[in-house]
Amino acid sequence: MVDDSLSHTVDALAKRVEQGEQQLDALQRTVANLGNELDQLRREGNVPASQRSKEPSTTPQGHAQLHRVVAAVWQDHADEKYRSDMSHWRGAGRWADIELWERIGKDRLVQVKELLQRVHAEPKTDGLRLLEWGPGGGSNLLASSSIASDLYAVDISQKNLDESGRILKGANFDRYHPILLEGSISDAVGAIDHPIDVFLSTAVFQHFPSKQYGLDVLQAVSSKMPSGACGIVQIRYDNGNPKFAPKSVAEYSRGHITATSYAIDEFWDALVGAKFVPLEVRDINSRINYATFLFKKA
Ligand SMILES: C[S@@+](CC[C@H](N)C(=O)[O-])C[C@H]1O[C@@H](n2cnc3c(N)ncnc32)[C@H](O)[C@@H]1O
Repeated sequence: MVDDSLSHTVDALAKRVEQGEQQLDALQRTVANLGNELDQLRREGNVPASQRSKEPSTTPQGHAQLHRVVAAVWQDHADEKYRSDMSHWRGAGRWADIELWERIGKDRLVQVKELLQRVHAEPKTDGLRLLEWGPGGGSNLLASSSIASDLYAVDISQKNLDESGRILKGANFDRYHPILLEGSISDAVGAIDHPIDVFLSTAVFQHFPSKQYGLDVLQAVSSKMPSGACGIVQIRYDNGNPKFAPKSVAEYSRGHITATSYAIDEFWDALVGAKFVPLEVRDINSRINYATFLFKKA
């Protein structure tokens, strides 16, 4: 009797030892796999940030699909008061303060002029062509009309292109070339019929549907800019604050205000990847994670 129960206990113990050994094996395999993944991450950490993106360049069909999601917010939003305020229309919401609205463009124009001085010994005084990606209510375009002969604008929203046109018409500027973004990014850029001297995009890259999309815009615009052309792009930077972390396309209708952000070094490398020479990162605003990049075409 005693012998029987003793041998049962020994058997049970042997089984538990065996199970324990199996669990140890499984744990060792998990640790080995994690080690491999860590090695892989370390290797990727040595790759320039711009090449770290897991997403391939978006196809033209992919752009068209993304544009439907983006246009649902910027063109077709049910709340027009919200939409026009968010698009920086003169007189709408926050922009009832007209001076505040004008300051968007006036302050940016100072920066554009400084950049032109920096890049060219003798900046063009005639025939300057400026492209704004995402002009909204046209404050930047209005201010830029004092130095540009031609103003190009690409936007996802016909309403915003029209409002910018209305503002420019009010200032008797008639060389405005609005381009509606419907199909692919390269189709829109292909509609620009002359080389671009200055590229401007402020308060727009954070509304892009993905990080790769922003890189696609940089690549496409770069192809229209000759050596010596220059640009200013404002982004929201990603410093780990979850509020500004990039969101999935599925979340776009709720998360469009903070849809996309880049680490500062990542965006610097992205500019290099698009054949630009970054010159400066400035105006870092840690309250809303804004940073502004100044660059020229290589
Ligand atoms: C916040 S407003 C900025 C307006 C202006 N740039 C400024 O600084 O006042 C954002 C603008 O980007 C446009 N936009 C949003 N997503 C876009 C996209 N994928 N391509 C082009 N424009 C886009 C919107 O329609 C709107 O005109």
